[in-house]
Amino acid sequence: MVVSFAAHHVLFLVWFLPATFSLSFFFFKAESISNVSCNERDKQALLTLKRGLTDHERVLSSWSDHKDCCIWDGVLCDEKIGRVSELHLNNSKLSGEISGSLLQLEHLNYLDLSGNDFNCTPIPTFLGSMFSLAYLNLTSANFCGLIPHQLGNLSSLRYLSLGSNSDLYVDNLRWMSGLSAIQHLDLSYSDLHREVDWLQIMSKFPSLSELYLYYCQLDSLNPSLGFVNFTSLRVLHLSENHFNHEIPNWFSNLSTSLLKLFMYGNSLKGNIPPSIFNLEKLEFLDLGINSLNGPIPSSVGNLSCIRALYLDQNQLNGTIPKSLGLLSKLETLFVGKNSFTGTVDEGHFRKLSKLKKLYMSEAPLFFNVNSNWVPPFQLDYASMSSIKIGPNFPSWLQSQKSLSFLDMSMSGISGKAPGWFGNWISNITFINLSNNRIECDVSDIFLSSTVKVLNIANNTFYGPISTFLCQKKIRKNKLEVLDVSNNLLSGELSHCWKYWQSLIHLNLGSNNLVGGIPYSMGALVNLQSLRLQNNSIWGDIPSSLKKCLNLRLIDMGDNHLSVIPLWIGEITNLIVLRLRSSEFKGYIPQQICQLSSLRVLDLANNSLSGSIPNCLKNISAMALPESYDISFSYLSSFMYSYANVSYAENVQLVPKGNELEYKENLKFVRLIDLSSNNLSGSIPVEISDLFELRFLNLSRNHLMGKIPEKIGSMKELESIDFSRNHLSGKIPPSMSNLTFLGLLDLSYNNLSGRIPSSTQLQSFDSVWYIGNPQLCGDPLPKNCTIEDQSLNRSPIGSVEDDSKNSSFYIGMGAGFSTGFWAICGALYFNRTWRHAYFGFANEIKDWIYVTTMIKMNLLEKLRACLNK
Ligand SMILES: *[C@@H]1O[C@H](CO)[C@@H](O)[C@H](O)[C@H]1NC(C)=O
Ligand SMILES: *[C@@H]1O[C@H](CO)[C@@H](O)[C@H](O)[C@H]1NC(C)=O
Ligand SMILES: *[C@@H]1O[C@H](CO)[C@@H](O)[C@H](O)[C@H]1NC(C)=O
Ligand SMILES: *[C@@H]1O[C@H](CO)[C@@H](O)[C@H](O)[C@H]1NC(C)=O
Ligand SMILES: *[C@@H]1O[C@H](CO)[C@@H](O)[C@H](O)[C@H]1NC(C)=O
Ligand SMILES: *[C@@H]1O[C@H](CO)[C@@H](O)[C@H](O)[C@H]1NC(C)=O
Ligand SMILES: *[C@@H]1O[C@H](CO)[C@@H](O)[C@H](O)[C@H]1NC(C)=O
Repeated sequence: MVVSFAAHHVLFLVWFLPATFSLSFFFFKAESISNVSCNERDKQALLTLKRGLTDHERVLSSWSDHKDCCIWDGVLCDEKIGRVSELHLNNSKLSGEISGSLLQLEHLNYLDLSGNDFNCTPIPTFLGSMFSLAYLNLTSANFCGLIPHQLGNLSSLRYLSLGSNSDLYVDNLRWMSGLSAIQHLDLSYSDLHREVDWLQIMSKFPSLSELYLYYCQLDSLNPSLGFVNFTSLRVLHLSENHFNHEIPNWFSNLSTSLLKLFMYGNSLKGNIPPSIFNLEKLEFLDLGINSLNGPIPSSVGNLSCIRALYLDQNQLNGTIPKSLGLLSKLETLFVGKNSFTGTVDEGHFRKLSKLKKLYMSEAPLFFNVNSNWVPPFQLDYASMSSIKIGPNFPSWLQSQKSLSFLDMSMSGISGKAPGWFGNWISNITFINLSNNRIECDVSDIFLSSTVKVLNIANNTFYGPISTFLCQKKIRKNKLEVLDVSNNLLSGELSHCWKYWQSLIHLNLGSNNLVGGIPYSMGALVNLQSLRLQNNSIWGDIPSSLKKCLNLRLIDMGDNHLSVIPLWIGEITNLIVLRLRSSEFKGYIPQQICQLSSLRVLDLANNSLSGSIPNCLKNISAMALPESYDISFSYLSSFMYSYANVSYAENVQLVPKGNELEYKENLKFVRLIDLSSNNLSGSIPVEISDLFELRFLNLSRNHLMGKIPEKIGSMKELESIDFSRNHLSGKIPPSMSNLTFLGLLDLSYNNLSGRIPSSTQLQSFDSVWYIGNPQLCGDPLPKNCTIEDQSLNRSPIGSVEDDSKNSSFYIGMGAGFSTGFWAICGALYFNRTWRHAYFGFANEIKDWIYVTTMIKMNLLEKLRACLNK
């Protein structure tokens, strides 16, 4: 379960922005229908403006010479004087040039050009001469470059919104002092880091009420200032800057009228100062996604107006204070992903009757409430994963009638689910109760058309799957994700799949399912992943599945299936095909090469015979580098997102001899595993065109002939296992180019000659070369004769890699990962460093994938570390 908080915070932003202007717009619009007539000069100025603009959607079609300009769309006039006073041209898909003719509109006080596309041109400097402007909105209009100082001349300006443009910056902000009337200032997403005195400048505006400076690359809140007098401030939004210091003392007397304070996604350190709770009118406080530590001060109970409190994703510890339970207006409480200890009980929620959203996941807390507790709240969002709630089923849930999101995965709940459970969950949109030990007969579960995600993986759900799938009361379901893997479901897959056509992700793995794959599964045309692994399913894969053209992932490993169907080549979107250990016989069909998006081909441990198709280079996803966009859409194919929460596929693979589980990092894997079959013939030379392949395992077959000469051009390879075949000839010298190789097993073949020298090939243990009686040279104990030497020379200079790092590798004399671990292992797990580069890779086992993604960074780091 991954919860995407960035998205959440952004959504949040949208709904508190004031709606006053849209209201006034309608008001003026109504008025303008009266008999005002347009000033001719204004009209000509507007027509000139129109000529300069590109009007893709013809929103300016009413702007014609024949009509009164006061009734043109987007134009409002001041009735008394018949002059144009407002231009509402927002979100109109306009581009082109903003004409200086605007200057003729001497009475214009409102100009909204937000949400258009001015193609990364600078903000016109003449706007700074439109002295009557009170409102200027250039938000999201794709302006670039320096924000013109001339804007500082607009002394009547009350609203200035320049946020969310592509690439705006300031050299300084001193020019702003002229904006003496400013009330609402939004410079978000502009680079302000060059102005160190931004705070002193902004706090001089006597009427400033709302200040939005998120994503502004600001470095400091100037903690040394004793006092900052933001007299009238009501909204302060400083999120996503780089304040990696403590919350300054001056926050406590920021402004007694402050209602909203947002500072998430900085790197704020230290404790939460109790004095911040002196801001007693606060309704929204967001200090999430920082590095704050220490406890939540109990004076948090003084925030009597607070409606949303975000303290999630910090390093806060200690127990959660009971005074939280006094915050009777609280609707949203986010405290998850912290290091809290101790117990949370009824007292913490005593007066929280308005609470709707609770995020408490991933904090080592014990949620210990009485079994007859009836909470004062009705939650709609409850994220309580990885905290201790069990062993008993949380009976208070029964009182919650409005839940749309429930995550109580990994919360230690065990034993029988209560009788009301099966019906109760039927109206929750997103359910994740995975990784508990809940016992429940699946046929007791009812799913209305509201439920989109049901993840009950790794529990003790039992009963025949057909009873569940075929129940009458479930037929109207609109389920998109069903994960019941790792339970005790039994019996044959039913013929009721036509009732489950909304399914996108289906995981029935690791149950006790038997019988064939029914033809009716072809009805699942929306399916993107089909997981049947680790059951006792037998027989043919029905050809009806070729109708499931959206399939990205097929996992049928560990069953008793028969042959790989030829039509598999028609499922052209397939990215992962895992059929290992499933008793497949016959040949690997050439059609597999039509799967140009395939990145994981795992057919290991079957009885496949014949030769390896010589067309594998057609699998372009393994042959060609890809753009960032493709990689992004690839990631999303294994990720189901609903609102701001998601479900991610996890797949078991064996990249380097050990089975590993891949989740988000699946996108870095490119693997061919054909090991432990009955394959014969030689390794097709075309395989060396798979330049993006990372893991290649052909071991334990009957392959003969030579290792392809150009294998060294597969520069991304991290692991090669050709062991236990009948390969003969020399080890190709080009292998010394494989600088990322961490595993090379050539044992038990019939290779001969000298192991190419002056490369990391010597760093591998000799066991990876044994069983080749005619192989000689380091690291094998057998010395080479003169003859061996002359036959297979690989001088230092022959490494054709011209990248600046190759000499580094050669000098290192160790396999990349070996050397890496020996020298810089500790650095690798340095927390901040790791987070900076990998974010999600929080398991040690993930690291191999991420190294390939960021290898340049890694090399720099490694070098720096070696130079110490
Ligand atoms: C400016 O325009 C944006 C986008 O159209 C809008 O969301 C925002 O509320 C406007 N700002 C003000 C102060 O009205
Ligand atoms: C803050 O500034 C306002 C006007 O700018 C002034 O009236 C007030 O006294 C100042 N407050 C303090 C505590 O200095
Ligand atoms: C700021 O607040 C602190 C305590 O919160 C108080 O002692 C101090 O007098 C205040 N300063 C001003 C200038 O208001
Ligand atoms: C609120 O603040 C006052 C001091 O200003 C303090 O005495 C009181 O204990 C606080 N209340 C809570 C619930 O912490
Ligand atoms: C199943 O859930 C338990 C917690 O109840 C967890 O410890 C275990 O790792 C999970 N197993 C799998 C395969 O996810
Ligand atoms: C292995 O393949 C050979 C021919 O390629 C065939 O004769 C033999 O029967 C196969 N063995 C098995 C166990 O499939
Ligand atoms: C091993 O390779 C040599 C040539 O290097 C060849 O003469 C010999 O027959 C091969 N042995 C086997 C068992 O294939």
